[in-house]
Amino acid sequence: MKCEPNRLEIFLTRLAFLICGRCVYQSFADHLPLEGWENVLDFGCGMGTVAYYAAKKLPHGHLTCLDISERWLNACRKTLRNHGNISYLLWEFPMLDDECFDVVYCHFVLHDISDSELEIVLPELAGSLKSQGVLVFREPLTDTNKISFIKRLTEQNKLFPIDSRITDIPMMGNSLECIYIKQ
Ligand SMILES: C[S@@+](CC[C@H](N)C(=O)[O-])C[C@H]1O[C@@H](n2cnc3c(N)ncnc32)[C@H](O)[C@@H]1O
Repeated sequence: MKCEPNRLEIFLTRLAFLICGRCVYQSFADHLPLEGWENVLDFGCGMGTVAYYAAKKLPHGHLTCLDISERWLNACRKTLRNHGNISYLLWEFPMLDDECFDVVYCHFVLHDISDSELEIVLPELAGSLKSQGVLVFREPLTDTNKISFIKRLTEQNKLFPIDSRITDIPMMGNSLECIYIKQ
């Protein structure tokens, strides 16, 4: 469901990014399976918190930042204004080309999407991955039913789990990070 942030929300997110950028967002970007040439999608990029670090890891690749909110996407443009290898997409379904991304990642996005919308979103993300492409997500562990639903749906779309770990994130608590591969 579309939800535009107000100015205070954007300001507070920028503040959190300045204070916790490295330990929260860079730690996730550092764990992405990137060599530097990949075509990557940040699904639900927000103000570009993870994208800021992921873009630096793609000197010969490309990063697409996608969000359902125009305001977040504009904030993301501002965060990444010094990077050249980025394009921006406002989410509309269906919109992603088949088999075009090497890596798709979602950081604190999927848990907020309704089950019925996830049934549309996850097949679209799976379809946009190349063969051997990788989906990575990190979600809070507060709602275990939701996590189980996301995992079940991911596997139903022919993505196979290859790694997972629980991390304790400052101010956010325990979260689950999962990596899936398309075969
Ligand atoms: C909690 S924020 C996380 C932003 C960013 N990934 C981060 O970790 O800082 C969730 C983001 O997902 C976006 N979002 C929610 N539903 C979406 C959908 N169906 N398609 C694309 N983006 C969506 C929201 O607009 C918001 O920017």
